[in-house]
Amino acid sequence: EFVRRPLIAGNWKMNMDHVQGITLLQKLAWTLDDANHDHNRVEVAVFPPFTDLRGVQTLVAGDDLDVVYGGQDLSQHDSGAYTGDISGQFLNKLGCRYVLVGHSERRSVHQESDETLRAKVEAAYRHDLVPVLCVGEGLEIRQAGTHVEHTLEQLRADVDGLDAEKVATLVVAYEPVWAIGTGEVAGPEDAQEMCAAIRAELTKLYDADTAEKVRLLYGGSVKGQNAAAILRERDVDGVLVGGASLDAGEFASIVRFEN
Ligand code: G3P
Repeated sequence: EFVRRPLIAGNWKMNMDHVQGITLLQKLAWTLDDANHDHNRVEVAVFPPFTDLRGVQTLVAGDDLDVVYGGQDLSQHDSGAYTGDISGQFLNKLGCRYVLVGHSERRSVHQESDETLRAKVEAAYRHDLVPVLCVGEGLEIRQAGTHVEHTLEQLRADVDGLDAEKVATLVVAYEPVWAIGTGEVAGPEDAQEMCAAIRAELTKLYDADTAEKVRLLYGGSVKGQNAAAILRERDVDGVLVGGASLDAGEFASIVRFEN
């Protein structure tokens, strides 16, 4: 029923220390098992803090969990004098499949520019990580009605010059900043409007075949109760969940969305 395999991703942000993170993941696995969850239906990913990754790797490998994981950020550089930064190389060695690039909190709190993000996308591919590129507008832009243009501008700048084979594997997450952690959910039609616009833009920049392969996620106050309606939209291929991913039962109900 889905053109692309849906990706249900939990961004833990700066929550869950290494002990809490393991407990959360174990609970999630139990909950899904108890519910006889069909693992082939969707791909489940978590984005824990860096300090949890080793523990997550051990648990996923040891218990053969059907969960993939990634870092919440990476450096544009591979190694060297960059105190406090984390290289894509390290994430790769810890078994990460994905890495978030350009989350709105990185853009605002750490002033990450599109130029930096373009370099981070490149760095991710250099280390065999799939970037989950986050884009989206703030409230003022939404109110001014220029949200589509704004978001497409971010997209163009962040993938500028990237070749088509790489783009085909890319994941783009549309996260309207005004809907993050606010309980304010963009309607399914808002998510669809933007995801369709992103796919059309990728068709223009590349070609229809490439654009059809890219998975587009929606993020912003997704919960068990609204996930299905969002995921029903044609161009929405998954969700990026913040707050609700910190509760195993709630996240499991998003993973098991009925549509
Ligand atoms: O990356 C996910 C995110 O920013 C959405 O957060 O708490 O609104 O689901 P939340």
